[in-house]
Amino acid sequence: MQTIARDTGRHQLGFQPLEQEHQIDSLAIEGELPRWLSGSLLRTGPSKWDLGAQRLNHWFDGLAMLHRFSIRDGEVSYGNRFLRGKAFRAAEQTGRLGFQEFASDPCRSLFRRLATLFVTPEITDNGAVNITRLGEQYMAMTESPMPVVFDPQTLQTLNVQAPRPGTLPTAHPHRDPASGALIGYTTKLGARSKYQLFTQAPGRPARILASIGVGEPAYMHSFALTERHAVLVAGPLVVKPIELALRRGGLIESFHWKADRATQIYVLDRHTGERVANLDTDALFCFHHVNAFERDGEIVMDLIGYDDPGVIDRFYWDAIDAESRKGAPPTVRRYRLPLDGRRDVAVEQLSDHAIEMPRINYARCNGSAYRYAYGIGDGPSNGWDSVPIVKLDVDGGGADVWAQDGAYPGEPIFVAAPESPREDSGALLSIVLDAERCSSYLLVLDAETMQERARAHVPHHIPFGVHGEFYDDPPEVEQQ
Ligand SMILES: [Fe+2]
Repeated sequence: MQTIARDTGRHQLGFQPLEQEHQIDSLAIEGELPRWLSGSLLRTGPSKWDLGAQRLNHWFDGLAMLHRFSIRDGEVSYGNRFLRGKAFRAAEQTGRLGFQEFASDPCRSLFRRLATLFVTPEITDNGAVNITRLGEQYMAMTESPMPVVFDPQTLQTLNVQAPRPGTLPTAHPHRDPASGALIGYTTKLGARSKYQLFTQAPGRPARILASIGVGEPAYMHSFALTERHAVLVAGPLVVKPIELALRRGGLIESFHWKADRATQIYVLDRHTGERVANLDTDALFCFHHVNAFERDGEIVMDLIGYDDPGVIDRFYWDAIDAESRKGAPPTVRRYRLPLDGRRDVAVEQLSDHAIEMPRINYARCNGSAYRYAYGIGDGPSNGWDSVPIVKLDVDGGGADVWAQDGAYPGEPIFVAAPESPREDSGALLSIVLDAERCSSYLLVLDAETMQERARAHVPHHIPFGVHGEFYDDPPEVEQQ
């Protein structure tokens, strides 16, 4: 792995590997945790890039590690473990990648590259992107049909299958609070590629709700869900599926940015799968939707948009080492999608604050009108001088900010206070890299005031993670 040169930014420690696994019963706490706050923050992210015989090209591709912060009775315990799925085991046994990752290639034979399009066992399960729950199964996911089930308390990888359809299912499924079912989309690559909307109830196989044929599928990372509709936003970062099979390289390296093409917007009835509208707008790259809701006969859809996909290139190791700022910065954008047959899509920038890793009060607001989004300031576009946690008022564009010299926070996860009267009554939890101490801590902010309530120190650094989720005390999960 790269060593940190003296003249590189202090944030570089967040890109360094963590290979040791820890179980710590009680972390040192500064401040006072909210009395009502009880449960576990589960997070995933890449943690190892030097496999021995192969060094991976891109930050996203590192072997996944899970982290758990459990809060009970004013105490915080911590644990971390590698996700020991088939991708991890193959890398451990050979010192090389066993499967194609986002931007790194295992140098497979032509036969194995072709098989990636059609055979699920040839697709990675390195769940370094996100965590979700289906019934009592907790799963770490990447954009793969094979999420990896793990024990939420010990973080032990469990030998349980929970397959999802297609070739590239989203790692950002939505969750129906009433049924506990997941709702997601997948891209099925092949001679006749298609986007598919699916739902998956606990203990049941996934059910396809809608299929949309597409010649050159787009790279999509997340989608929007309102009370009645699902919205897929397919920008012009597209792939010819056969190129994926014939070309060496990481998955994303077979996708090409066609800046002169429009972004396709598909509005689907989330219950029947019926196609409600086909719309388009200017070329757009998006990792993360913020929220969407219906108002006055249209869908209001907020997302973090880029004018080009250069953000992907910022996380190759040579760009990280050079602290590259190339590529467009993100903006928080609001699209208005007519549902009455008109085709004019209106777009506006909601704020001057550039944020990424957006979160909302999901249980209360997903799919309905809302006021607050939380995210981290975009490090590369700030020049990595600092990374703030931002609370954005999407109605007025104003923002409250938490920032501290030498502090590099990850995705802020909103946890609602019980019987909360306000949308923002609750806590924000974020794992922060403390560059001065060369270690990390769990930060707890009051989401209403953005004032710090407490921090729980870990004795080592935690590499920058990707996504996670907070769960009320998870039940014991028996190994199967
Ligand atoms: Fe994501």
